[in-house]
Amino acid sequence: VKHVGIAGTGMYVPEKRLTNADLEKMVETSDEWITTRSGIKERHICAPDETTSDIGLKAGVQALESAGMEPEELDAIIFATFTPDTLCPSTACHLQGKIGAKNALAFDLSAACSGFIYGLTVAKGLITTGVCKNAMVLGAEAMSKFTDYQDRGTCVLFGDGGGAVIVKADAPDGRLLGEYLCADGTMAEHIIIPGGGSRNPCSQNMLENRLNYIKMAGNEVFKFAVRILVHSVEEALSRCGRSVQDLSLIVPHQANYRILDAAARKMGLPDEKMFNNIANYGNTSAGTIPIALYEALHQGRIKKGDLLSLVAFGGGMTWGSIVVEW
Ligand code: UT7
Repeated sequence: VKHVGIAGTGMYVPEKRLTNADLEKMVETSDEWITTRSGIKERHICAPDETTSDIGLKAGVQALESAGMEPEELDAIIFATFTPDTLCPSTACHLQGKIGAKNALAFDLSAACSGFIYGLTVAKGLITTGVCKNAMVLGAEAMSKFTDYQDRGTCVLFGDGGGAVIVKADAPDGRLLGEYLCADGTMAEHIIIPGGGSRNPCSQNMLENRLNYIKMAGNEVFKFAVRILVHSVEEALSRCGRSVQDLSLIVPHQANYRILDAAARKMGLPDEKMFNNIANYGNTSAGTIPIALYEALHQGRIKKGDLLSLVAFGGGMTWGSIVVEW
């Protein structure tokens, strides 16, 4: 294997839109606050019977089509999510059954918003060590099912959706040149769903205390995010002998347009080199980067030979970046 490249992409967001005007009717907030503080205008929300693997299925079918592959040809499915269909089995297994990838190994990867970057790196490892020839890597979330629509500090930010890519040995486009991943578990409480796991198993008391929903220390995360985004981009670039000036586009995790603005300024990059679609989808956690990559490709923002940086940060805290040559 000389290199690992991206052979196909797909994305999906649920049909239902939740606008800032809708949220004004649900919590004490305003379109003005949400727009100026986060850049978000609307987000998409799952139907009651729609799950994370359903999002993955639609994105995955599209990615297979764009790679010209049949489901049976897949060797691996890596599903990055922290909003799984069920705690057991994995969302990857639910997807594997639905999509008919009967020859693929399948597992979930839990790294919150950084999950897609972690997943691509693991897939590259499986391919370069000869365990697999190809893999589908998904990042998708049904955030709405874990969002407290009484907490204005979080409910205005999150949306549902996700994307999928097919990575293959020696695919000509989207070469994964270099990676950097890291984590700091001393900040584990910053973004957390405290209930439903072994710490606070499901109980009446757990539900009454609303521990089944996402809690976030937004302000602490914000400051950390700007610093770690810049560091991650620079570290992954330096590991493959490149620099920020070589980049055509950064495809970052979409948590807040102000984080992206501040990071671009710190790196001395113009706004147009920082891809931003947060207005339409909000923060879909592991879903943001594969959605953004799909849209950047389809908007003609990525051309043959371009150098890209994919970069994420999120719960854990986790963070990381991948340098991609298109
Ligand atoms: O994807 C994982 C990583 N996550 C992130 O990167 C999120 C990072 N954090 C953020 O994006 C921002 O911190 C937020 C958008 C969450 C919040 O923006 P902020 O500028 O940091 O606001 P704040 O938390 O400092 O809150 C300012 C005020 C508070 O009122 P007081 O205490 O100053 O009176 C909040 O209660 O804004 C209030 N507030 C709201 N007001 C209207 C918080 N949420 C809302 C709301 N509508 N939805």
